[in-house]
Amino acid sequence: MQIVVIGVGYVGLVTGTCFAEMGHHVVCLDIDESKIEQLKKGEIPIYEPGLQEMVLRNQKSGRLSFTSSYQEGMQGARVAFIAVDTPPLPDGQADRSRVFGVAKSIGLTMKEELLIVTKSTVPPGTTHEIRRIIEEQGKGIPFAVASNPEFLKEGSALADCLKPDRVIVGVEKEEDGYLLHKLFAPFMLSHDRFIVMDILSAELTKYAANSMLATRISFMNELSRLAEILGADIQQIRKGIGSDKRIGHAFLYPGIGYGGSCLPKDVKALVAQARALNSPLSLLEQVDAVNQSQIEWFINSLLQALADIEQPVIAVWGLAFKPDTDDLREAPALTAIKRLLANKANLRLFDPIAMDRAKQILPDNPFLTYCSSELEAAFGADAILLVTEWKQFRFIDMEEVKTKMRGHLFFDGRNQYAPEEMAKMGFYYKSIGQPVIESHALRTDSSKTS
Ligand SMILES: NC(=O)c1ccc[n+]([C@@H]2O[C@H](COP(=O)([O-])OP(=O)(O)OC[C@H]3O[C@@H](n4cnc5c(N)ncnc54)[C@H](O)[C@@H]3O)[C@@H](O)[C@H]2O)c1
Repeated sequence: MQIVVIGVGYVGLVTGTCFAEMGHHVVCLDIDESKIEQLKKGEIPIYEPGLQEMVLRNQKSGRLSFTSSYQEGMQGARVAFIAVDTPPLPDGQADRSRVFGVAKSIGLTMKEELLIVTKSTVPPGTTHEIRRIIEEQGKGIPFAVASNPEFLKEGSALADCLKPDRVIVGVEKEEDGYLLHKLFAPFMLSHDRFIVMDILSAELTKYAANSMLATRISFMNELSRLAEILGADIQQIRKGIGSDKRIGHAFLYPGIGYGGSCLPKDVKALVAQARALNSPLSLLEQVDAVNQSQIEWFINSLLQALADIEQPVIAVWGLAFKPDTDDLREAPALTAIKRLLANKANLRLFDPIAMDRAKQILPDNPFLTYCSSELEAAFGADAILLVTEWKQFRFIDMEEVKTKMRGHLFFDGRNQYAPEEMAKMGFYYKSIGQPVIESHALRTDSSKTS
């Protein structure tokens, strides 16, 4: 089947490539001409494990091609997926201008019967608007619209796309469901995980899923603050409640808040839509508020610990919003950097993958130093702030790290290490919702026993 995927970002490029991998003929279309030129040359503009090889393989086979022309992209297409970005507007609502721009372009260039599928995360009602915009162009060619919200996760996007937990589609007519089922069947050979519903419900399902995940995170983050005051350990609590089958272990990890291109914007967009419809989602409003205050809470405690140092040097480990991606959209590291710079800190930054992107985004500032390793970042630092839980941070020789530092503060926003071990090495180790173990207390205890 000939498919056109419109918007070649994280979602569009992965989706298009996976369809090509399954034998479909796919044209990926984007108005960003420089991106398309890059892709034609086999250069991948984003970091996603395994993606480069798969793009090259399918490009070579002739099943995957790239264009910036709607005329060319729409040629022969039976299904068009819309996968453009829907960033937040200042008031939190999703900006649908790109989606509507695509609808207009489709309406003007479609040549034969087409099923137009919204993959972008859009407020309920948007796919119906898309139908209206296409009709307005007045071509008279028969078409249908559908919704197919995307659930892939950056960092494991290929696996998520090739073997999805579920495929949700919202359709107007049964036959559109059959067509989409045929398209997705190769991804679900072992057992069918295809769920068909109406379009509005499919659109809302996406927001509901992300809002539920965000709620779990904010719940744990707020609870971690109470645990800390009580002297309880949130890690024990996490295991305790996660082992209840009704609750499960996923998304119970406390940290310095969720970021990325989806959770923050989707929660805000749903809250904004609900308010506009006079049916506020007060729980979700708090989920967002807790998320914003969590990072403030942690950075405040770091600044407090550094209060006696006039121009503290802080190593920031991890910039991407999560491991295995170079995506910095709404990354907690950016919020932390802004706060710390405002407090006259000298920052030494390191991320295994996102350094180039960080240099493009962050302002030129003499107080920012870009480092090529964790150790280099730690050099002369009064404190280390771990923001992203990259795997390579797990087994670092902390004794060596300590020798490079000027101070001994380690603020771990992702609870990566054992507090006792860190204290033994002489760190003041502050994590999320776990008691700080003072290293002198440990030394006194061991001197008693020896
Ligand atoms: N990134 C994720 O992990 C993820 C996961 C699930 C859902 N989503 C949703 O999927 C959508 C896409 O997200 P993304 O992260 O891939 O976005 P992205 O910013 O990485 O890519 C969007 C692409 O669309 C292109 N574009 C914009 N207007 C266009 C137009 N008129 N015609 C053709 N191309 C156009 C842009 O040039 C860009 O390359 C969003 O709605 C997002 O919420 C994202």
